[in-house]
Amino acid sequence: MKFIHPLMHQNFTYSDTRAVTKLFKEKNLILTQSKKVKKFEKKWSQWLGVKYSVFVNSGSSANLLTISLLKILYKKRKEIILPTLTWVSDINSVIQNGFKPVFVDINPNNLCMDENELLKKINKNTLAVFLTHVQGFNGLSQNLINILKKKKIHLIEDVCESHGATFNNKKLGSFGKISNFSFYYAHHMSTIEGGMVCTNDKKIYELAKMLRSHGMVRESNNASFERKMINKNPKLSPKFIFLYPAYNFRNTEVGAVIGLNQLKSLNKNNKKRKDNFKLFLKLLDKKKFKTDFEIKGSCNYAFPLILRKADFKFRNILENKMKKYGIEYRRGNAGGGNQLRQPYLKPYVKNVNFTNFKEVDHIHFFGYYIGNYPSLSFDKIRKLVKILNSI
Ligand SMILES: Cc1ncc(COP(=O)(O)O)c(C=O)c1O
Repeated sequence: MKFIHPLMHQNFTYSDTRAVTKLFKEKNLILTQSKKVKKFEKKWSQWLGVKYSVFVNSGSSANLLTISLLKILYKKRKEIILPTLTWVSDINSVIQNGFKPVFVDINPNNLCMDENELLKKINKNTLAVFLTHVQGFNGLSQNLINILKKKKIHLIEDVCESHGATFNNKKLGSFGKISNFSFYYAHHMSTIEGGMVCTNDKKIYELAKMLRSHGMVRESNNASFERKMINKNPKLSPKFIFLYPAYNFRNTEVGAVIGLNQLKSLNKNNKKRKDNFKLFLKLLDKKKFKTDFEIKGSCNYAFPLILRKADFKFRNILENKMKKYGIEYRRGNAGGGNQLRQPYLKPYVKNVNFTNFKEVDHIHFFGYYIGNYPSLSFDKIRKLVKILNSI
């Protein structure tokens, strides 16, 4: 008997199709990065509550661009603190830029970095904390913000999984020096592929635009800076001054038009996701599944289905049952669980003592996520939970 509960449903709507069709009917059509991208960046900044946003072609590109930017701006300190439960590109971007990743176990109640563990890892070499707000949960506290500020450690927020979640009624992604978003299909909203780098710092904004487009000076859109660079490099063609080794991370007008259209429904969709989430928590069997999450300000695009006990037998029955009923799932929650167990990290992080990472290891072996999308009805949640509770 197939029940069918996908991870995501209808994240691209008829209204998006209409917006794209309208774009294609324009005269003198430009589809590469142009006015629509600028408009989407402006609207996104307004929605988030930051001054500047830079639209890129994925959340991973946002990660890599952000850490590349830190490398250009800050030469002295070499360590970046990271969670063990995050997406692979957060860690890759740190390694690929020559920083030392320093890992922290998670807080099981919000799946983000354990604050006490994080604070223990800070030392004079710590340049930044690259915090992931995992699956819609807030990973910030006022204490953490204050300490990082006092110690002049940069806060970088990865909000790729938490669009619209808040701390102290302010949107996540508006606290850090830089924040990153992803608009991949499975997230709160989509631009097919896409990401955003957000900041209140004009210098970072201009640098981010240059790094997005090959390190080209003219991309900064800062006339006086451009003039200065042209004068400094008289033997170069003024339109082709490449200041940094960089990337082509540009998105397109098509992505921007979809983003602009999806942004209109984001708050409404997020409200439904929050209501769904509460119903899941209310109905799930608390003895079998974890339900005591810190949900204040949270906004989850998926439901974290985490077993109470480390029980492989229960896990097998659950997986078989979910397969039987067509309930799509991912084990390991964000990014497949404990990143320290992944082969790509072996050359960089040696002799890991897994007993120091017990909480993320529980998620690694006994944590899942299942879909929580706006078209998911309360009735379907009731049926779904009945199946899960029957194990
Ligand atoms: C926390 C986090 N960071 C970064 C990314 C990368 O985003 P993208 O898939 O758009 O490259 C993801 C993707 O799922 C993510 O969950």
